[in-house]
Parts: sequence; C-alpha cells; structure tokens
Amino acid sequence: MGSIEFEASRLGTKEHWDSVYSRELTSFKEIGDEGEVWFGEESVYKMVQWAAKHVPPSNDPMILDIGSGNGALLFSLFEDENYSPKLLYGIDYSEDAVILAKNIAQKRGAAEITFNICDFLSQDPPIADVRRTADSINTWDLLLDKGTYDAIALGEKDNLGRSSVFSYPSRAARLIKPGGFFLITSCNFTEQELRANFATEETGLLYHSSIKYATFTFGGQSGAKYSSIAFQKTTQ
Ligand SMILES: C[S@@+](CC[C@H](N)C(=O)[O-])C[C@H]1O[C@@H](n2cnc3c(N)ncnc32)[C@H](O)[C@@H]1O
Repeated sequence: MGSIEFEASRLGTKEHWDSVYSRELTSFKEIGDEGEVWFGEESVYKMVQWAAKHVPPSNDPMILDIGSGNGALLFSLFEDENYSPKLLYGIDYSEDAVILAKNIAQKRGAAEITFNICDFLSQDPPIADVRRTADSINTWDLLLDKGTYDAIALGEKDNLGRSSVFSYPSRAARLIKPGGFFLITSCNFTEQELRANFATEETGLLYHSSIKYATFTFGGQSGAKYSSIAFQKTTQ
C-alpha cells in the first residue's frame, strides 16, 4: 500500500483526547458550550449534503460516525436532513466525548441517537437491536470519519512497527454493506493518498466522488486545507 507515514505525536494518543473532552465536558456543564467543530461548519454542511444526495434519509440508512467527538455531524444529519435518529450511531474511545455527545443529544431532543465507547482499532462498534442485526459486519449503509483517521495516523506503531494507517481501511470496509459508502474528511492526507490507502483490492472499496472546498495557494502549490472523499463498497 503506497502511503505516507507520520511520526507519533501527542495528538495520536487517547490521553490527549481524554483531556480535550474532559475540558469540553466541563465547559458544556458550566456554560453550555458544545465544543469544537473540527474543520468548521462548512465540512459538516458539505458532508451532510453529500449524504443526503447519495444515501438519502428516505432509504432509512444505518449510519456510523467513527470517532464522533461531540456528535456534531450526527446532530446535523438528524436536525438538517431528518435522518432517523434511531439509525444514527457514534463511537469514540474517549469516555468524556461519549458523555458530552449524550448530554448534547439530551439538550437537542436527539436522545435516540446512540453513542458508545469503542476503540475502533480493536473493537467492532456495538449495535443496538433496531434491525435484529447480529453484529456490525456488512451492516452499515454509510460510515463517516471526520478527523479520526488523521488522529489515528499520529498514533504509536504496533509491535510489528506498523502504523494503524494500514489496518484502519480494511477494519472500516468490512463493516460496510455491499453497495454502501465510506465518507472521510482529512487534513493530513491528500485526496491521492486517501485513494491509495482506501481503494484497494483488500478493502473492496472503489473511489466514488469527492467534495470540493475552497482552495488556497502557497509556495506555488495550490490545494484545499482538507479533503472529503467518498468510497463505495463493491464486494462482501
Ligand atoms: C480530530 S477529532 C474529530 C472528532 C469528530 N469527528 C469531529 O469532527 O469533531 C478525532 C476523534 O477521534 C477519536 N479517536 C481517535 N482514535 C480513536 C479510536 N482508535 N477509536 C475511536 N475513536 C478514536 C478521538 O477521541 C476524537 O474524538
């Protein structure tokens, strides 16, 4: 798999995210601040618009947000496009992120959205019995990732010296229904790198489309600050 690798950094540790969400949870309790919208409102808006077009709410899709943080993306799907809250799921390995998202869900009347603690690199997302689905494999119509693969890329390597950048794509792909989608927004990887990492024989994912953002030019190079790319699963 052709891919750049990153040096491990604090941003790739659970301790870092635990301290971020502990602070955000305190601030929510004290002043009602819901916390940071990673990559800003534009990325949320555009990802939700992409979903509404390709995985419309009228099809009752099951949607999982990997590393859901404060849950902003799922709240937007529910509030702005009327996705069924019973079919929206968020997972995060930081307990305070999950508590924060659940608190915000209560406040926004979105308590039917499910948030669970789950380390995506070692556990399959727990799934409520809405469709009597036995497990999470080949189940989801749409997986979302906004900034989580970026954080994971900054984590420690495993015992074999391999970065989780390599295991994440197939872990994600096996959860998706044939014909289902994976939509990722990243600031650490270019569109070409995301395509090289995710659209492989092993994952069975094919490049589907990308979301356009305003571009900037620096040092003669032109590019967007982050990329959103969608893949579709073709095989079991
Ligand atoms: C950059 S933040 C983005 C949060 C959220 N997606 C957003 O857009 O606001 C990365 C998130 O990934 C979560 N995360 C990192 N590694 C994870 C893992 N192995 N399993 C589950 N969540 C993880 C962090 O706790 C954090 O919430």
